[in-house]
Amino acid sequence: MAWEVSENDFPKSGSAKDKLKFFVKYAILAPSGHNTQPWLFEINDDEMSINLYADRTRALPVIDPDDTELIISCGAALENLIVALKYFEYYAEVEYFPSETDNDLLAKIKPMIGYEPDAEDKKLFNAIKTRHTNRLPFADDTVDGYRLDKLKTIVSEENVNLLVIEGEQVREEVIKIIEQGDKAQATNKSFCRELAQWVHPNRTNSKDGIPGYAFGMGDLISFGSPFFIGNLNWGDIQAGRDRNLVKGSPVLAVIESKNNNPIDWLRTGMALEKLLLKASSEGIAASYLNQPIEVPELKEKLVKLLHLKGYPHLIIRMGYGKEVKATPRRDLEEVIR
Ligand SMILES: Cc1cc2nc3c(=O)[nH]c(=O)nc-3n(C[C@H](O)[C@H](O)[C@H](O)COP(=O)(O)O)c2cc1C
Repeated sequence: MAWEVSENDFPKSGSAKDKLKFFVKYAILAPSGHNTQPWLFEINDDEMSINLYADRTRALPVIDPDDTELIISCGAALENLIVALKYFEYYAEVEYFPSETDNDLLAKIKPMIGYEPDAEDKKLFNAIKTRHTNRLPFADDTVDGYRLDKLKTIVSEENVNLLVIEGEQVREEVIKIIEQGDKAQATNKSFCRELAQWVHPNRTNSKDGIPGYAFGMGDLISFGSPFFIGNLNWGDIQAGRDRNLVKGSPVLAVIESKNNNPIDWLRTGMALEKLLLKASSEGIAASYLNQPIEVPELKEKLVKLLHLKGYPHLIIRMGYGKEVKATPRRDLEEVIR
């Protein structure tokens, strides 16, 4: 249902509240770690603003103990909100972390009428609905340097760096670290239990979490997936799969921020979504291989190997892939405070 939102339903002559709620429908289509959708929105129709809150009840304490990925996910939702506002001719004035006492309040967004969207704004808006995490193999076609440069520039608008990993030897070293990450996570019981709670059979009524089909599973296998993940050692299988996926991906890149604090995490999420929307508008798909970043020793190895100066948060592969299905989203009422 969430993905059926249409620009034709914009309540042009509706109340401020109706309009603000409508924009939030685009925000919630953003990606989030394990599809936890860890965000809440507060609509202030009296001052025509939206408050974005982190919903830490949806945290992933094993994989993301500091809520870094949680805040990044909220940043992606914030970016969708801004893109939607621009499309409907509003500037978005954003105040980051406006409260000194409430660190769950991540941003206050004040839409102001008068923006004139250009063709690029419209393309990015349309990409909100075409962007999906694509974990399937990509075609051999390369992503040309011109496009890659544009993606790097977009990410840098948020003071974040997209480092494309080049050279066969370095890529091979990164693949090895990803494989080690898969094996480490598969033998970590707490990690497996946490993941199993968020992976669902294909035929599920859940409005959050990841259905098996998003990993390329058929209905039958997906039915047993929470059990397999929670109880079997799947590290070697996943490592082999990820090796092939990365080998066949034209682009492998790391997203790093300058500082390691909540504001930089939020802006990393905005940069991520900028990147994904731009990529999707050009027919380029992406998925994540964050395992090394989620295992502290491997994160250190990665930083040394790539001589990173900042803080790596995400490893992304990009390329041209077949279309994939959307994952579920919670209803609007559940994310409005
Ligand atoms: C901060 C963040 C971290 C993520 N990490 C991973 C990951 O390590 N592996 C993975 O397969 N997907 C990862 N994802 C993708 C989410 O699982 C995906 O966004 C979610 O299931 C919703 O699906 P969608 O992106 O197709 O809308 C991540 C997404 C975000 C925003």
